[in-house]
Amino acid sequence: MTELEDKIAQAQAEIERATNIVILTGAGISAESGVPTFRGEEGLWQNYRPEELATPEAFWNDPKLVWEWYDWRRNAVKDAKPNPGHYALAELEHYVQKITLITQNIDGLHQMAGSHDVLEMHGNLWQIKCTKCGEIEQSYEVPLAELPPKCKKCGEIGRPNVVWFGEMIDMAVIDAALQAIEQCQVMLIVGTSGVVEPAASMGLVAKQTDKTVIEINLEETPSAGLYDIVIREKSGEVLPLLFTSNKTLS
Ligand code: OAD
Ligand code: ZN
Repeated sequence: MTELEDKIAQAQAEIERATNIVILTGAGISAESGVPTFRGEEGLWQNYRPEELATPEAFWNDPKLVWEWYDWRRNAVKDAKPNPGHYALAELEHYVQKITLITQNIDGLHQMAGSHDVLEMHGNLWQIKCTKCGEIEQSYEVPLAELPPKCKKCGEIGRPNVVWFGEMIDMAVIDAALQAIEQCQVMLIVGTSGVVEPAASMGLVAKQTDKTVIEINLEETPSAGLYDIVIREKSGEVLPLLFTSNKTLS
């Protein structure tokens, strides 16, 4: 058995035994769907780092620039389809009593693959929220006719309905995520660089309470040393191998 096969067998055994699994995903799971990640060469948009654009300050300083970035992301996601990684996670719901899927992604691909009750920590790319009256518009227009887009109700400028650096994540989402981690036996962390809080600490929370943590990521991450099984492969290739469908719900 190669080292990789051995790790996959270990992960399969952990998943097979578990009745309650938490999954945390980041941009890496959508990379094989052609959605650019945030960090690394390909993720950069016109040499800006996400921390320079995904903030309220950047938006109010130059709303058009920030919208150009989101328009570019919307365009990149528009024709994207879920990949075998998304589908494997959705299918897992049929074999494990309780699955909680927490994602930092705003692309909607987990839901498109069939996952239910996805906890979206960072919002949704297809919603525009009015900066004045708070009206939320679901919009799939790409590219947007006007940047920044205007509110249909009051005429003020809209912003992407996403969570930016320095903004609060919905407490209900955080609570639900932490509660799920407390109750699970196995946590799977897939395709996240592990540098943005609070998601970055969720694996540590799981370890503090002795859960088995499995990481799947192409590259090294800051907390990998603390995890039980670390698989450095593409999620679209590995996830379908981890779940054997001979397990049925009792
Ligand atoms: P990043 O772009 O920071 O990290 C993507 C991770 O996926 C990296 O660690 C890659 O090694 C890994 N990766 C790439 N392709 C992969 C593949 N095919 N299979 C497995 N792993 C792969 O994305 P996130 O961690 O999601 O927030 O970033 C977190 C947050 O930072 C985002 O939600 C966004 C960003 O700024 C906001 O905009 C508020
Ligand atoms: Zn409005």
